[in-house]
Amino acid sequence: MNEIISLLQNHRSIRKFKDQPVSESQLNAIVAAAQAASTSSNMQAYSVVHVKDSSLRSQLAALAGNQAYVSESPVFLVWCADLHRYEQAVRRHGDTPVTGNAENFIIATVDAALAAQNAAVAAESLGLGVVYIGGLRNKPAEVSELLGLPQLVYPVFGMCIGMPDQEPLLRPRLPLEAVYHVNQYTDNQVAVDGYDESIRDYMKERTDGKVDTTWSKEMAAKAQRPREHMKAFLNAQGFGIE
Ligand SMILES: Cc1cc2nc3c(=O)[nH]c(=O)nc-3n(C[C@H](O)[C@H](O)[C@H](O)COP(=O)(O)O)c2cc1C
Repeated sequence: MNEIISLLQNHRSIRKFKDQPVSESQLNAIVAAAQAASTSSNMQAYSVVHVKDSSLRSQLAALAGNQAYVSESPVFLVWCADLHRYEQAVRRHGDTPVTGNAENFIIATVDAALAAQNAAVAAESLGLGVVYIGGLRNKPAEVSELLGLPQLVYPVFGMCIGMPDQEPLLRPRLPLEAVYHVNQYTDNQVAVDGYDESIRDYMKERTDGKVDTTWSKEMAAKAQRPREHMKAFLNAQGFGIE
């Protein structure tokens, strides 16, 4: 249809990178693209930490569940929800910021995600590959400590960026009728049945027949790893979402 839509529809996460740097001008363009994302009430309630130090990178890779590409990718960014700057702005006027509030927590998390996804698309448009790293939320307090995050800032996810050294298969998505509704939400389990089979075929092909699983089985496995610690962590970090 056009180059941008085709770029978006060709996205695949990259977990192996060439030993080739991302240039300063590429990185600047990527971060500027992130900054151009829409943002709730212009709050820009996010920050991004570019982690360059190799010891920090290895520690983050371990905290993320030993994901080697976190220390090996040319660039590693940590996207944070950030109400700290908002708090400071409100205090300049002698007012009390609203922090212990689910709405502002959502705003900051959404702002971080929108900025990050703009960065991801910008990187892919330059021929680079990316993978998000939610694994940082395995140990969010340790990650926050390593990066010196103040109260009211938390790491939503990391992102590896670099020149791809692999060409993974496109991972199939749910059929349109499972996610797209007109006027009223309609429960479409039949679409999920079909998708289970697409994911079974995809996983078999990707792993030379070694992994036999379906999407709903993967979801059941994920339900066993609920990251229950997030609520207490967010409250300790000042987000007050109880
Ligand atoms: C918020 C978020 C966190 C993710 N965390 C990880 C991660 O820790 N490690 C990883 O290898 N992939 C991670 N991914 C990548 C997803 O597994 C991937 O996007 C999904 O399986 C779809 O595959 P695709 O991106 O290749 O189309 C994450 C993606 C998102 C959006």
